[in-house]
Amino acid sequence: MEADLNNTILITGGSRGIGRELALQAEARGDTVIVTVRNTDADHRLPASIRVEQLDVKRPEESAALAASLDGIAIDTLVCNAGIFPSRGGIREADYSVEDWVQGMMTNVAGPFYVVRALLPNLTASRSPKVAMISSSMGSSTNAAGGSYIYRASKAAVTNLACNLAVELAPQRIAVGAFDPGWVKTDMGTDAAPLNVSNSVAGLLERIDGLHPDNTGIFETWMGDRMPF
Ligand SMILES: NC(=O)c1ccc[n+]([C@@H]2O[C@H](COP(=O)([O-])OP(=O)(O)OC[C@H]3O[C@@H](n4cnc5c(N)ncnc54)[C@H](OP(=O)(O)O)[C@@H]3O)[C@@H](O)[C@H]2O)c1
Repeated sequence: MEADLNNTILITGGSRGIGRELALQAEARGDTVIVTVRNTDADHRLPASIRVEQLDVKRPEESAALAASLDGIAIDTLVCNAGIFPSRGGIREADYSVEDWVQGMMTNVAGPFYVVRALLPNLTASRSPKVAMISSSMGSSTNAAGGSYIYRASKAAVTNLACNLAVELAPQRIAVGAFDPGWVKTDMGTDAAPLNVSNSVAGLLERIDGLHPDNTGIFETWMGDRMPF
């Protein structure tokens, strides 16, 4: 499906990896692109046409400041992409400190919640608003291979968050979906990943374009396969 004309898309975690590539591909097809980064002083090698805003998703007050900065701007597509992968490995191998649990759940679950909540006025100002949660197949209970407990739990939770937001926001016709990008070569995915970031993101953008009120609550892979919850 073609992207809507004049699609304004906001992507969290646009400094690198999947978020940066989403921004570049969306900009290349003519979207109005806003990205958030944690460090606005760093050079993220983004075109000048992309608006860059500061946001650490763990900090609700920064989501509120972002909303204030974007007051009056309709956001058609919000992509909650920012994420971390703390304490890799099995229960005996990895650190699994309390701090890792807090960072993982705050960044990957509470972060998207606060961003969506702060930007609701921007979303409701759009004629066809949608929210894409970048989740992971690692959070699917049918893909439980053990290990990586914080990451898996956080991605299961953010998929659940998407389902419940889809229900609550349906009367406002805000479509919400969760998407699995595949295992992608990024800092998080590492060079061992089979998928390059441009292919994953091209698929993700198609999936996000296909998100509408009539299929809200979906959980799909970057290729369009239904992902079990
Ligand atoms: N790569 C994969 O194989 C894969 C697979 C499934 C799902 N995913 C998901 O896809 C998303 C992007 O992953 P990626 O592979 O692109 O990871 P990445 O290369 O490690 O990039 C992560 C991005 O998230 C940002 N970020 C981290 N913590 C943040 C915070 N507290 N506030 C705001 N931004 C924050 C980072 O910003 P800084 O530069 O400031 O650190 C960076 O822009 C994540 O949600 C991840 O879980 C990835």
